[in-house]
Amino acid sequence: EDALAWRLRQSPSCGELIAAPGNPGIARWARCVAVDPVDAAAVTDLARKQGIDLVVIGPEAPLVAGVGDALREAGFAVFGPSAAAARLEGSKGFTKDLCRANGIPTADYERVETMAEARAALARFGAPVVIKADGLAAGKGVTVAMSLAEAEDAITAAGDGPMVIEEFLEGEEASLFALVDGETAVALASAQDHKRVGEGDTGPNTGGMGAYCPAPVLTPELEARAMDAIVRPTARAMVEAGTPFSGVLYAGLMLTADGPRLIEYNVRFGDPECEAIMPLIDGDFAALLMNVATGRLAQTEAPRLLDKHAVTVVVAARGYPGRPASGGTIRAIESAETVPGVTVFHAGTASSSTGLIASGGRVLAVTAVAESFANARARAYRAVDTIDFADGFHRRDIGWRELERAS
Ligand code: AMP
Ligand code: GLY
Repeated sequence: EDALAWRLRQSPSCGELIAAPGNPGIARWARCVAVDPVDAAAVTDLARKQGIDLVVIGPEAPLVAGVGDALREAGFAVFGPSAAAARLEGSKGFTKDLCRANGIPTADYERVETMAEARAALARFGAPVVIKADGLAAGKGVTVAMSLAEAEDAITAAGDGPMVIEEFLEGEEASLFALVDGETAVALASAQDHKRVGEGDTGPNTGGMGAYCPAPVLTPELEARAMDAIVRPTARAMVEAGTPFSGVLYAGLMLTADGPRLIEYNVRFGDPECEAIMPLIDGDFAALLMNVATGRLAQTEAPRLLDKHAVTVVVAARGYPGRPASGGTIRAIESAETVPGVTVFHAGTASSSTGLIASGGRVLAVTAVAESFANARARAYRAVDTIDFADGFHRRDIGWRELERAS
């Protein structure tokens, strides 16, 4: 949301920006108000009192809770889907069924409700296999089990409840971000992230420890294929179901030997992908989002990205993704931002009497832009090394695939 606010504030059409609730990073570009973003009545009331022209909903919780619906009913232009359309992220089972019904390439799967059903499905799929809790889990409700024992453990840990058991897909992952308003869908950007907490892509899954934009592995040909076989049929199916999608659709893709297959959808810009995408968007971003919100995407000039590279390195609090240490002091962000092309976006930060402190798992998203991937990456790490945050840690190998490809 800090990156979104930063980019919105630079838009010629954005006169004033208000954030609910914001954080110390967002306070650099927006007026922050203490309103709970999941409280539809409070958000609508704020929009009314402030005479807001466009509401951009960043995270998934308010989308799934129907804050967009309440705002639309009250007559506001909203960037972000309805609760019904946000099920594309909120329910993995919903999305898998939609793919099956519309021939959209994805992993074979079975929806189950109990541990016993999950074990029966496991016997059918064998290992490796993927086990997913059905619901929002901040990217952490998924177990990729390489052995049946590991799969058994994941099912036992999940307990009875809705789960999806999936075929394991082999390939490289890449993310495609598309703007969608009803039937119209246009590609905006590609990115790759690093989901595992540890270097060499080891350890538990996180929301993401770093990202870069663009992702050259998603070639123009593969991107066009993914738009035609995955994103556009999804947009059409949502219209046909009477629940059209409006906003940004983030398709997590597996680039398999037989082409891109959908792993999952998010209905927002993603974190840390958003931080890597925003600096590369050319033109009036707020006007672009307004055109999506008001159903004019088909008449809008295609979005353009700068011909540069952005790399984001996440600095997390020690203990993440388990129990992150809270309250650690953070200093020297300003000197990190003197590195050319660098912006330090805030996630879990708070102000205290002693200055800036950590208040969440992922704390900072250090982002650098340059003409080449290698330079963007070098700048990002130079900035990370300047920051004084004793309770923090980060991965040193963000972008290793791109470095390997370049060498
Ligand atoms: P998700 O929350 O669905 O994106 O899953 C988190 C991560 O688990 C993905 O980014 C993949 O790395 C991995 N994953 C999910 N589904 C599959 C699958 N069917 N085959 C292989 N890996 C998967
Ligand atoms: N980085 C993945 C997500 O935002 O869900």
